[in-house]
Amino acid sequence: MAKIIAGIGSSHVPAIGAALDNGKTEEPYWKRVFSGFEKSKEWMAKTKPDVAIVVYNDHASAFSVEMIPTFALGCAAEFPPADEGWGPRPVPVVKGHPALAAHIAQSVILDEFDLTIVNKMEVDHGLTVPMNLLFGQPKDAWPCPVIPLAVNVVMYPPPTGHRCYMLGKALRRAVESYPEDLKVVIFGTGGLSHQISGPRAGLINSKWDKSFLDNLSKDPKKLTRIPHLEYMREAGAEGIEMVMWLIMRGALDDKVDEVYRFYTVPASNTAVGHIILENARKASGTGKVAGKSRRGSAGKSRQAAARKSIHRIASKGTR
Ligand SMILES: [Fe+2]
Repeated sequence: MAKIIAGIGSSHVPAIGAALDNGKTEEPYWKRVFSGFEKSKEWMAKTKPDVAIVVYNDHASAFSVEMIPTFALGCAAEFPPADEGWGPRPVPVVKGHPALAAHIAQSVILDEFDLTIVNKMEVDHGLTVPMNLLFGQPKDAWPCPVIPLAVNVVMYPPPTGHRCYMLGKALRRAVESYPEDLKVVIFGTGGLSHQISGPRAGLINSKWDKSFLDNLSKDPKKLTRIPHLEYMREAGAEGIEMVMWLIMRGALDDKVDEVYRFYTVPASNTAVGHIILENARKASGTGKVAGKSRRGSAGKSRQAAARKSIHRIASKGTR
């Protein structure tokens, strides 16, 4: 059985990518940022996941304003880096996991979350910067396949924090019903507080950011009640990206071990936040049971009924 073993929250500031790509990591301004991810890279090298689900937002690279899916799941075999205006970042092509992605699409959609299935997609800094921060700068290939999950946080209305949290739970049920033994980690990316334009450009609210990280670790349900306006007011217009961290958090146990946290300001004009949460070792042995009981019989029977009807349609089609 596949299993989500840990969640990683990380900012995905584009200037971090530019600093990496232009060899600026040793400059004092950037060293302050990158030094905060050294332990994380060690943790990731030790954890060796088989697959990473990366929740991020596209910044008008793959989707223009003509088409904006709320939740778009990357089911392709590979995802090339996008041209973000300066050419594609010099990072390896991201390899997908089409079999697990297709399973997740089926499970989550039958669980009544209407994902958009994407079979061709380029990925921008929203996905590749956190990958670099946790996996380093591999030249030829990333160390594990990746399933991208792009969330609309660029055009109103984005999904609510509660919807994101519940999607995380559906993702977990999907992963845990995949028969192959796979160690899966899930990233929530974006934020923390920042505002790119307008009279409040440059806004950073460290107090609010730290409280968000505290609650993410200890009391995530409290965060699910934060309305969009509070994100905008307290964390800036682009602070709404933080709802994506709740998808990651929803996919974990209620109680987690916070194994690492890092926070610094600024990088470019953004607060950089990072956290690693592991499903508690003792709890993870029973997580399967707890996860199943949380799902409830109504959800299970809905999925089973939907699967049966699909089989009926499929078998009719072959007659
Ligand atoms: Fe972003």
